[in-house]
Amino acid sequence: MVSRIIPVNEFDLVVFGGTGDLAKRKILPALFKRFCDGQIPEGSRIVGAARSAHTLDAYRDLVAEALSEFAKELARDQDALRAFCEIVHYVAIDARGEGGWADLAGLLKNEVRAFYFSVGPGLFSDLAERLHLHGLTNEQTRVVVEKPFGHDLETAQALNHELAQHFDESQIYRIDHYLGKETVQNLMAVRFGNILFEPLWNAQYVDHIQITVAETVGVGGRGEYYEKSGAMRDMVQNHLMQLLCLIAMEPPSKFDPDAVRDEKLKVIRALDSVQPHHIVRGQYTAADGEASYREDVDNPRSKTESFVALKCQVNNWRWAGTPFYLRTGKRLSDRDTEIRVVFKDTPHSIFGPEAGQHHNELAIQLQPDEGITLKVTIKEPGPGGMRLIDVPLDMSFAEALGPTVETPDAYERLIMDVIRGNQTLFMRNDEVEAAWAWTDPIIRGWEARGDVPKPYDAFSTGPDDAAMMMSRDQRHWRGLGK
Ligand code: BG6
Repeated sequence: MVSRIIPVNEFDLVVFGGTGDLAKRKILPALFKRFCDGQIPEGSRIVGAARSAHTLDAYRDLVAEALSEFAKELARDQDALRAFCEIVHYVAIDARGEGGWADLAGLLKNEVRAFYFSVGPGLFSDLAERLHLHGLTNEQTRVVVEKPFGHDLETAQALNHELAQHFDESQIYRIDHYLGKETVQNLMAVRFGNILFEPLWNAQYVDHIQITVAETVGVGGRGEYYEKSGAMRDMVQNHLMQLLCLIAMEPPSKFDPDAVRDEKLKVIRALDSVQPHHIVRGQYTAADGEASYREDVDNPRSKTESFVALKCQVNNWRWAGTPFYLRTGKRLSDRDTEIRVVFKDTPHSIFGPEAGQHHNELAIQLQPDEGITLKVTIKEPGPGGMRLIDVPLDMSFAEALGPTVETPDAYERLIMDVIRGNQTLFMRNDEVEAAWAWTDPIIRGWEARGDVPKPYDAFSTGPDDAAMMMSRDQRHWRGLGK
Protein backbone atom coordinates (compact mmCIF):
# COMPACT_ATOMS: atom_id res chain seq x y z
CA MET A 1 0.00 0.00 0.00
CA VAL A 2 1.23 3.50 -0.83
CA SER A 3 2.20 5.41 2.31
CA ARG A 4 -0.06 8.41 2.80
CA ILE A 5 2.22 9.95 5.39
CA ILE A 6 3.60 13.32 4.40
CA PRO A 7 7.21 13.49 5.59
CA VAL A 8 8.26 16.41 7.76
CA ASN A 9 11.69 17.79 8.56
CA GLU A 10 13.28 16.88 11.84
CA PHE A 11 12.12 19.16 14.60
CA ASP A 12 12.31 20.10 18.27
CA LEU A 13 9.01 20.39 20.08
CA VAL A 14 9.01 21.89 23.55
CA VAL A 15 5.88 21.35 25.60
CA PHE A 16 5.61 23.92 28.38
CA GLY A 17 3.25 22.33 30.87
CA GLY A 18 4.84 19.01 29.97
CA THR A 19 3.59 17.30 33.13
CA GLY A 20 0.04 18.67 32.82
CA ASP A 21 -3.22 17.03 31.94
CA LEU A 22 -3.36 18.12 28.31
CA ALA A 23 0.20 16.92 27.70
CA LYS A 24 -0.60 13.53 29.20
CA ARG A 25 -4.01 13.03 27.63
CA LYS A 26 -3.58 14.56 24.21
CA ILE A 27 -0.21 15.99 23.18
CA LEU A 28 2.09 13.09 24.09
CA PRO A 29 -0.31 10.36 22.88
CA ALA A 30 -0.72 12.21 19.57
CA LEU A 31 3.05 12.42 19.15
CA PHE A 32 3.45 8.78 20.08
CA LYS A 33 0.92 7.74 17.44
CA ARG A 34 2.70 9.77 14.78
CA PHE A 35 5.97 8.23 15.95
CA CYS A 36 4.59 4.70 15.60
CA ASP A 37 3.41 5.58 12.10
CA GLY A 38 6.96 6.57 11.24
CA GLN A 39 6.16 10.25 10.78
CA ILE A 40 8.60 11.63 13.32
CA PRO A 41 11.99 11.76 11.65
CA GLU A 42 15.14 10.65 13.39
CA GLY A 43 16.93 13.47 15.14
CA SER A 44 13.69 15.06 16.35
CA ARG A 45 13.25 15.81 20.03
CA ILE A 46 10.33 16.27 22.30
CA VAL A 47 11.15 18.29 25.38
CA GLY A 48 8.82 18.42 28.34
CA ALA A 49 9.23 21.61 30.37
CA ALA A 50 7.57 22.33 33.67
CA ARG A 51 8.24 23.86 37.04
CA SER A 52 8.88 20.70 39.04
CA ALA A 53 12.27 19.03 39.20
CA HIS A 54 12.26 15.60 37.53
CA THR A 55 15.20 13.49 36.50
CA LEU A 56 15.14 12.49 32.86
CA ASP A 57 14.28 8.93 33.86
CA ALA A 58 11.46 10.05 36.10
CA TYR A 59 9.97 12.15 33.30
CA ARG A 60 10.26 9.33 30.80
CA ASP A 61 8.46 7.08 33.31
CA LEU A 62 5.72 9.67 33.60
CA VAL A 63 5.42 9.79 29.80
CA ALA A 64 5.34 5.99 29.52
CA GLU A 65 2.64 5.83 32.17
CA ALA A 66 0.55 8.47 30.41
CA LEU A 67 0.86 6.63 27.09
CA SER A 68 -0.10 3.32 28.69
CA GLU A 69 -3.28 5.00 29.79
CA PHE A 70 -4.11 7.29 26.87
CA ALA A 71 -2.61 5.37 23.93
CA LYS A 72 -3.27 1.95 25.41
CA GLU A 73 -3.21 -0.21 22.30
CA LEU A 74 0.00 1.17 20.83
CA ALA A 75 1.75 1.35 24.17
CA ARG A 76 1.51 -2.45 24.47
CA ASP A 77 4.42 -2.50 22.06
CA GLN A 78 7.17 -2.05 24.65
CA ASP A 79 9.89 -1.56 22.00
CA ALA A 80 7.97 1.30 20.42
CA LEU A 81 7.31 2.83 23.82
CA ARG A 82 10.99 2.63 24.73
CA ALA A 83 12.10 4.07 21.39
CA PHE A 84 9.67 6.96 21.76
CA CYS A 85 10.85 7.72 25.28
CA GLU A 86 14.41 7.93 23.93
CA ILE A 87 13.51 11.09 22.01
CA VAL A 88 11.79 12.62 25.03
CA HIS A 89 13.76 15.03 27.24
CA TYR A 90 12.93 17.17 30.22
CA VAL A 91 13.89 20.54 31.65
CA ALA A 92 12.70 22.08 34.88
CA ILE A 93 12.03 25.64 33.94
CA ASP A 94 11.05 28.84 35.63
CA ALA A 95 8.77 30.73 33.26
CA ARG A 96 9.23 33.97 35.15
CA GLY A 97 12.87 33.56 36.16
CA GLU A 98 16.14 32.39 34.73
CA GLY A 99 16.20 28.79 35.94
CA GLY A 100 16.42 26.10 33.26
CA TRP A 101 16.68 28.26 30.14
CA ALA A 102 20.33 27.47 29.52
CA ASP A 103 19.50 23.75 29.83
CA LEU A 104 16.72 24.17 27.31
CA ALA A 105 19.05 25.98 24.92
CA GLY A 106 21.45 23.04 25.19
CA LEU A 107 18.71 20.62 24.11
CA LEU A 108 17.54 22.41 20.98
CA LYS A 109 19.32 21.25 17.87
CA ASN A 110 16.91 21.55 14.98
CA GLU A 111 15.93 24.46 12.76
CA VAL A 112 12.22 23.70 13.06
CA ARG A 113 11.24 24.57 16.61
CA ALA A 114 7.78 24.48 18.02
CA PHE A 115 6.95 25.74 21.49
CA TYR A 116 3.65 24.47 22.79
CA PHE A 117 2.27 26.76 25.50
CA SER A 118 0.15 24.20 27.32
CA VAL A 119 -0.05 26.51 30.32
CA GLY A 120 -2.40 29.22 31.56
CA PRO A 121 -2.54 32.34 29.33
CA GLY A 122 -1.05 34.34 32.22
CA LEU A 123 2.32 32.81 31.29
CA PHE A 124 2.25 33.31 27.51
CA SER A 125 3.92 36.66 27.62
CA ASP A 126 6.65 35.57 30.07
CA LEU A 127 7.45 32.50 28.03
CA ALA A 128 7.55 34.42 24.76
CA GLU A 129 9.84 37.01 26.26
CA ARG A 130 12.27 34.49 27.73
CA LEU A 131 12.43 32.48 24.53
CA HIS A 132 13.66 35.63 22.83
CA LEU A 133 15.90 36.76 25.61
CA HIS A 134 17.73 33.44 25.50
CA GLY A 135 17.99 33.44 21.74
CA LEU A 136 15.92 30.28 21.34
CA THR A 137 13.80 31.48 18.46
CA ASN A 138 14.54 31.61 14.76
CA GLU A 139 12.66 31.99 11.47
CA GLN A 140 11.34 28.46 11.78
CA THR A 141 9.93 28.93 15.26
CA ARG A 142 6.25 28.31 15.92
CA VAL A 143 4.28 28.84 19.08
CA VAL A 144 1.14 26.88 19.80
CA VAL A 145 -1.51 28.21 22.15
CA GLU A 146 -4.64 26.54 23.44
CA LYS A 147 -8.10 27.79 24.07
CA PRO A 148 -9.47 29.57 26.00
CA PHE A 149 -7.87 32.36 24.01
CA GLY A 150 -9.04 35.18 26.22
CA HIS A 151 -12.13 35.57 28.31
CA ASP A 152 -13.62 38.34 26.19
CA LEU A 153 -12.57 40.67 23.39
CA GLU A 154 -10.37 42.82 25.58
CA THR A 155 -8.39 39.94 27.06
CA ALA A 156 -8.06 38.27 23.64
CA GLN A 157 -6.73 41.50 22.17
CA ALA A 158 -4.26 41.79 25.04
CA LEU A 159 -3.04 38.23 24.43
CA ASN A 160 -2.71 38.84 20.71
CA HIS A 161 -0.79 42.00 21.45
CA GLU A 162 1.57 40.23 23.87
CA LEU A 163 2.30 37.44 21.42
CA ALA A 164 2.77 39.91 18.58
CA GLN A 165 5.55 41.61 20.54
CA HIS A 166 7.69 38.54 19.98
CA PHE A 167 6.25 36.56 17.09
CA ASP A 168 4.92 37.20 13.65
CA GLU A 169 1.29 36.13 13.11
CA SER A 170 2.58 33.47 10.70
CA GLN A 171 4.35 31.85 13.68
CA ILE A 172 1.34 31.71 16.00
CA TYR A 173 -0.88 28.61 16.01
CA ARG A 174 -4.11 29.06 18.01
CA ILE A 175 -5.71 25.68 18.48
CA ASP A 176 -9.40 24.96 18.21
CA HIS A 177 -9.30 21.19 18.34
CA TYR A 178 -12.58 20.95 16.42
CA LEU A 179 -10.73 22.04 13.30
CA GLY A 180 -8.38 19.10 13.68
CA LYS A 181 -11.21 16.60 13.74
CA GLU A 182 -11.24 14.54 10.58
CA THR A 183 -15.01 14.88 10.44
CA VAL A 184 -14.90 18.65 10.61
CA GLN A 185 -12.42 18.79 7.76
CA ASN A 186 -14.81 16.58 5.91
CA LEU A 187 -17.34 19.39 5.98
CA MET A 188 -15.10 21.26 3.58
CA ALA A 189 -14.65 18.18 1.42
CA VAL A 190 -18.41 17.65 1.24
CA ARG A 191 -19.13 21.28 0.43
CA PHE A 192 -16.30 22.03 -1.96
CA GLY A 193 -15.53 18.61 -3.39
CA ASN A 194 -19.04 18.03 -4.76
CA ILE A 195 -20.99 20.04 -7.28
CA LEU A 196 -24.30 18.70 -6.04
CA PHE A 197 -24.74 20.89 -3.01
CA GLU A 198 -23.35 24.28 -3.96
CA PRO A 199 -26.19 25.46 -6.24
CA LEU A 200 -28.67 24.79 -3.44
CA TRP A 201 -26.49 26.13 -0.63
CA ASN A 202 -28.20 29.48 -0.11
CA ALA A 203 -31.26 31.22 1.26
CA GLN A 204 -33.28 30.50 -1.86
CA TYR A 205 -33.26 26.78 -1.16
CA VAL A 206 -32.25 26.36 2.47
CA ASP A 207 -35.01 26.93 5.01
CA HIS A 208 -32.73 26.88 8.01
CA ILE A 209 -29.62 25.21 9.43
CA GLN A 210 -29.19 23.58 12.83
CA ILE A 211 -25.88 22.91 14.54
CA THR A 212 -25.93 20.72 17.63
CA VAL A 213 -22.99 19.83 19.85
CA ALA A 214 -24.43 17.78 22.69
CA GLU A 215 -22.52 16.01 25.41
CA THR A 216 -23.62 13.55 28.08
CA VAL A 217 -20.76 14.44 30.40
CA GLY A 218 -21.14 17.09 33.08
CA VAL A 219 -18.45 19.58 34.01
CA GLY A 220 -16.65 16.92 36.05
CA GLY A 221 -13.47 18.10 37.72
CA ARG A 222 -13.33 21.29 35.64
CA GLY A 223 -15.88 23.16 37.75
CA GLU A 224 -13.60 26.02 38.67
CA TYR A 225 -12.76 26.84 35.06
CA TYR A 226 -16.25 26.18 33.75
CA GLU A 227 -18.01 28.29 36.32
CA LYS A 228 -16.17 31.35 34.98
CA SER A 229 -16.70 30.32 31.41
CA GLY A 230 -20.08 28.69 30.77
CA ALA A 231 -21.21 27.08 27.53
CA MET A 232 -21.13 30.35 25.60
CA ARG A 233 -17.42 30.92 26.14
CA ASP A 234 -16.44 27.26 26.37
CA MET A 235 -18.18 26.00 23.24
CA VAL A 236 -20.12 28.60 21.23
CA GLN A 237 -17.43 31.27 20.86
CA ASN A 238 -15.04 28.72 19.37
CA HIS A 239 -16.19 25.25 18.35
CA LEU A 240 -19.74 26.07 17.25
CA MET A 241 -18.54 29.26 15.63
CA GLN A 242 -16.02 27.28 13.59
CA LEU A 243 -18.68 24.81 12.46
CA LEU A 244 -20.96 27.69 11.50
CA CYS A 245 -18.14 29.28 9.49
CA LEU A 246 -17.38 26.10 7.58
CA ILE A 247 -21.05 25.62 6.73
CA ALA A 248 -21.76 29.23 5.80
CA MET A 249 -18.56 30.47 4.18
CA GLU A 250 -18.03 31.22 0.51
CA PRO A 251 -15.79 28.79 -1.37
CA PRO A 252 -12.20 29.92 -0.79
CA SER A 253 -10.12 30.15 -3.97
CA LYS A 254 -7.79 27.49 -2.62
CA PHE A 255 -7.24 25.40 0.47
CA ASP A 256 -4.61 27.65 1.90
CA PRO A 257 -4.42 29.31 5.31
CA ASP A 258 -5.35 32.85 4.47
CA ALA A 259 -7.84 32.02 1.73
CA VAL A 260 -9.78 29.79 4.15
CA ARG A 261 -9.48 32.09 7.14
CA ASP A 262 -10.48 35.18 5.15
CA GLU A 263 -13.74 33.48 4.22
CA LYS A 264 -14.42 32.31 7.77
CA LEU A 265 -13.79 35.79 9.09
CA LYS A 266 -16.35 37.26 6.68
CA VAL A 267 -18.98 34.92 8.10
CA ILE A 268 -18.30 35.94 11.71
CA ARG A 269 -18.38 39.59 10.75
CA ALA A 270 -21.69 39.12 8.96
CA LEU A 271 -23.41 37.66 12.03
CA ASP A 272 -26.26 39.73 13.44
CA SER A 273 -26.42 40.60 17.10
CA VAL A 274 -28.59 38.00 18.79
CA GLN A 275 -31.82 39.28 20.33
CA PRO A 276 -32.44 38.22 23.97
CA HIS A 277 -35.60 36.32 22.97
CA HIS A 278 -33.55 34.34 20.44
CA ILE A 279 -31.36 32.76 23.05
CA VAL A 280 -32.01 30.24 25.80
CA ARG A 281 -29.62 29.40 28.60
CA GLY A 282 -29.94 26.29 30.72
CA GLN A 283 -28.34 24.59 33.69
CA TYR A 284 -28.62 20.86 34.42
CA THR A 285 -30.26 19.55 37.56
CA ALA A 286 -29.45 16.30 39.37
CA ALA A 287 -30.62 12.97 37.91
CA ASP A 288 -29.78 9.27 37.89
CA GLY A 289 -27.46 9.63 40.85
CA GLU A 290 -25.44 12.35 39.10
CA ALA A 291 -24.91 15.71 40.77
CA SER A 292 -26.53 18.90 39.52
CA TYR A 293 -24.47 21.59 37.86
CA ARG A 294 -24.57 23.69 41.02
CA GLU A 295 -23.30 20.75 43.07
CA ASP A 296 -20.61 20.04 40.48
CA VAL A 297 -19.25 23.58 40.73
CA ASP A 298 -19.98 23.85 44.43
CA ASN A 299 -21.97 27.04 44.05
CA PRO A 300 -25.65 26.81 45.08
CA ARG A 301 -26.44 30.14 43.43
CA SER A 302 -24.47 29.72 40.22
CA LYS A 303 -25.86 31.62 37.22
CA THR A 304 -23.49 29.99 34.73
CA GLU A 305 -25.07 28.18 31.79
CA SER A 306 -24.28 24.58 30.90
CA PHE A 307 -26.59 24.84 27.87
CA VAL A 308 -27.16 27.43 25.18
CA ALA A 309 -29.56 27.45 22.25
CA LEU A 310 -29.70 30.46 19.98
CA LYS A 311 -30.94 31.71 16.68
CA CYS A 312 -28.72 33.90 14.57
CA GLN A 313 -28.52 35.24 11.09
CA VAL A 314 -25.64 35.57 8.65
CA ASN A 315 -26.36 38.90 7.00
CA ASN A 316 -25.06 38.51 3.49
CA TRP A 317 -26.48 37.81 0.03
CA ARG A 318 -26.16 34.06 0.36
CA TRP A 319 -27.89 33.67 3.71
CA ALA A 320 -30.25 36.63 4.25
CA GLY A 321 -33.50 35.09 5.51
CA THR A 322 -32.11 31.66 6.47
CA PRO A 323 -31.76 31.37 10.24
CA PHE A 324 -29.00 29.36 11.89
CA TYR A 325 -29.92 27.63 15.13
CA LEU A 326 -27.06 26.62 17.38
CA ARG A 327 -27.30 24.51 20.50
CA THR A 328 -24.82 22.96 22.85
CA GLY A 329 -24.96 21.59 26.34
CA LYS A 330 -23.61 19.22 28.89
CA ARG A 331 -25.52 16.34 30.52
CA LEU A 332 -27.81 15.97 27.55
CA SER A 333 -29.47 12.77 26.43
CA ASP A 334 -26.81 11.79 23.86
CA ARG A 335 -23.34 12.60 22.70
CA ASP A 336 -24.16 14.03 19.34
CA THR A 337 -22.46 16.56 17.10
CA GLU A 338 -24.37 17.14 13.93
CA ILE A 339 -25.41 19.67 11.38
CA ARG A 340 -28.79 19.66 9.69
CA VAL A 341 -29.34 21.59 6.53
CA VAL A 342 -33.11 21.72 6.11
CA PHE A 343 -34.20 22.62 2.60
CA LYS A 344 -37.38 24.45 1.65
CA ASP A 345 -40.51 22.72 0.48
CA THR A 346 -41.04 22.43 -3.27
CA PRO A 347 -42.47 25.69 -4.66
CA HIS A 348 -45.66 23.94 -5.79
CA SER A 349 -47.04 20.51 -5.05
CA ILE A 350 -48.47 18.73 -8.07
CA PHE A 351 -49.79 16.00 -5.75
CA GLY A 352 -52.38 18.02 -3.91
CA PRO A 353 -52.82 18.77 -0.24
CA GLU A 354 -52.99 15.13 0.89
CA ALA A 355 -49.32 14.72 -0.08
CA GLY A 356 -48.40 16.97 2.86
CA GLN A 357 -45.31 19.07 3.25
CA HIS A 358 -41.90 17.56 2.71
CA HIS A 359 -38.46 18.96 3.22
CA ASN A 360 -35.26 17.52 1.89
CA GLU A 361 -32.69 17.49 4.59
CA LEU A 362 -28.97 16.91 4.68
CA ALA A 363 -27.79 15.59 8.03
CA ILE A 364 -24.05 15.62 8.59
CA GLN A 365 -23.15 13.55 11.62
CA LEU A 366 -19.75 14.57 12.97
CA GLN A 367 -19.51 12.45 16.11
CA PRO A 368 -20.00 9.75 17.06
CA ASP A 369 -20.70 7.50 14.01
CA GLU A 370 -19.66 9.87 11.31
CA GLY A 371 -21.88 9.85 8.28
CA ILE A 372 -24.15 11.73 5.93
CA THR A 373 -27.84 11.23 5.39
CA LEU A 374 -29.87 12.89 2.70
CA LYS A 375 -33.59 12.75 3.32
CA VAL A 376 -35.53 12.44 0.09
CA THR A 377 -39.24 12.25 -0.63
CA ILE A 378 -40.68 9.24 -2.45
CA LYS A 379 -44.04 7.66 -3.10
CA GLU A 380 -45.24 5.42 -0.35
CA PRO A 381 -45.40 1.99 -1.98
CA GLY A 382 -48.77 0.36 -2.54
CA PRO A 383 -52.23 1.33 -3.71
CA GLY A 384 -54.19 4.29 -2.39
CA GLY A 385 -53.03 7.17 -4.50
CA MET A 386 -50.04 9.43 -4.34
CA ARG A 387 -48.98 9.47 -0.72
CA LEU A 388 -45.50 10.79 -0.12
CA ILE A 389 -43.04 9.74 2.53
CA ASP A 390 -39.50 10.77 3.43
CA VAL A 391 -36.74 8.19 3.41
CA PRO A 392 -33.05 8.50 4.20
CA LEU A 393 -30.32 7.99 1.64
CA ASP A 394 -27.81 6.92 4.21
CA MET A 395 -24.06 6.78 4.11
CA SER A 396 -22.23 5.65 7.17
CA PHE A 397 -18.54 6.39 6.62
CA ALA A 398 -17.57 3.30 8.62
CA GLU A 399 -19.61 1.15 6.21
CA ALA A 400 -18.45 2.97 3.10
CA LEU A 401 -14.77 3.10 3.99
CA GLY A 402 -14.49 -0.13 5.93
CA PRO A 403 -13.90 -0.62 9.62
CA THR A 404 -10.11 -0.62 9.28
CA VAL A 405 -9.90 3.05 8.41
CA GLU A 406 -8.68 4.74 11.55
CA THR A 407 -9.70 8.27 12.37
CA PRO A 408 -6.72 10.09 13.81
CA ASP A 409 -7.16 12.23 16.87
CA ALA A 410 -7.45 15.96 16.17
CA TYR A 411 -4.17 16.63 17.96
CA GLU A 412 -2.22 14.30 15.67
CA ARG A 413 -3.24 16.31 12.66
CA LEU A 414 -2.83 19.69 14.31
CA ILE A 415 0.62 19.07 15.81
CA MET A 416 1.97 17.77 12.52
CA ASP A 417 0.52 20.82 10.76
CA VAL A 418 2.45 22.99 13.21
CA ILE A 419 5.63 21.14 12.31
CA ARG A 420 4.86 21.50 8.60
CA GLY A 421 4.10 25.18 9.08
CA ASN A 422 0.54 24.95 7.79
CA GLN A 423 -1.86 27.33 9.53
CA THR A 424 -5.04 26.47 7.63
CA LEU A 425 -6.63 24.70 10.58
CA PHE A 426 -5.65 27.30 13.17
CA MET A 427 -7.41 30.48 14.15
CA ARG A 428 -6.02 33.80 13.09
CA ASN A 429 -5.90 36.79 15.47
CA ASP A 430 -8.70 38.69 13.70
CA GLU A 431 -10.91 35.59 13.61
CA VAL A 432 -10.67 35.06 17.37
CA GLU A 433 -11.30 38.72 18.05
CA ALA A 434 -14.32 38.83 15.74
CA ALA A 435 -15.78 35.80 17.52
CA TRP A 436 -15.39 37.54 20.88
CA ALA A 437 -16.81 40.78 19.49
CA TRP A 438 -19.97 38.83 18.62
CA THR A 439 -20.12 36.88 21.90
CA ASP A 440 -19.35 39.69 24.35
CA PRO A 441 -22.59 41.71 24.05
CA ILE A 442 -24.64 38.54 24.55
CA ILE A 443 -22.82 37.70 27.77
CA ARG A 444 -22.86 41.31 28.95
CA GLY A 445 -26.61 41.42 28.36
CA TRP A 446 -27.09 38.41 30.65
CA GLU A 447 -24.92 39.97 33.30
CA ALA A 448 -26.73 43.31 33.11
CA ARG A 449 -30.14 41.62 33.37
CA GLY A 450 -29.01 39.22 36.12
CA ASP A 451 -30.26 36.44 33.85
CA VAL A 452 -30.66 33.04 35.55
CA PRO A 453 -30.38 29.94 33.32
CA LYS A 454 -33.43 27.69 33.06
CA PRO A 455 -33.04 24.38 34.87
CA TYR A 456 -33.23 21.26 32.71
CA ASP A 457 -33.27 17.60 33.62
CA ALA A 458 -29.95 15.87 33.26
CA PHE A 459 -29.96 13.50 30.25
CA SER A 460 -32.82 15.37 28.60
CA THR A 461 -32.69 17.48 25.45
CA GLY A 462 -32.31 20.72 27.41
CA PRO A 463 -34.79 23.29 28.75
CA ASP A 464 -38.32 23.45 27.30
CA ASP A 465 -37.70 27.05 26.30
CA ALA A 466 -35.27 25.84 23.65
CA ALA A 467 -38.05 23.79 22.06
CA MET A 468 -40.42 26.74 22.39
CA MET A 469 -37.98 29.04 20.66
CA MET A 470 -38.16 26.70 17.68
CA SER A 471 -41.90 26.19 17.74
CA ARG A 472 -42.45 29.95 17.67
CA ASP A 473 -40.79 29.75 14.25
CA GLN A 474 -42.93 26.72 13.28
CA ARG A 475 -39.82 24.56 13.36
CA HIS A 476 -38.44 21.86 15.62
CA TRP A 477 -35.04 20.62 16.70
CA ARG A 478 -33.83 17.61 14.81
CA GLY A 479 -31.52 14.83 15.94
CA LEU A 480 -30.75 14.64 19.64
CA GLY A 481 -33.18 12.51 21.62
CA LYS A 482 -34.87 11.14 18.49
C1 BG6 B 1 -13.51 21.49 24.96
C2 BG6 B 1 -14.41 22.05 26.02
O1 BG6 B 1 -12.92 22.52 24.21
O2 BG6 B 1 -14.28 20.66 24.10
C3 BG6 B 1 -15.08 20.96 26.80
O3 BG6 B 1 -13.65 22.86 26.89
C4 BG6 B 1 -15.79 20.00 25.87
O4 BG6 B 1 -15.98 21.48 27.76
C5 BG6 B 1 -14.87 19.54 24.75
O5 BG6 B 1 -16.22 18.89 26.63
C6 BG6 B 1 -15.62 18.76 23.71
O6 BG6 B 1 -14.71 18.20 22.81
P1 BG6 B 1 -15.03 16.84 22.03
O7 BG6 B 1 -13.81 16.65 21.19
O8 BG6 B 1 -15.21 15.79 23.08
O9 BG6 B 1 -16.28 17.09 21.26
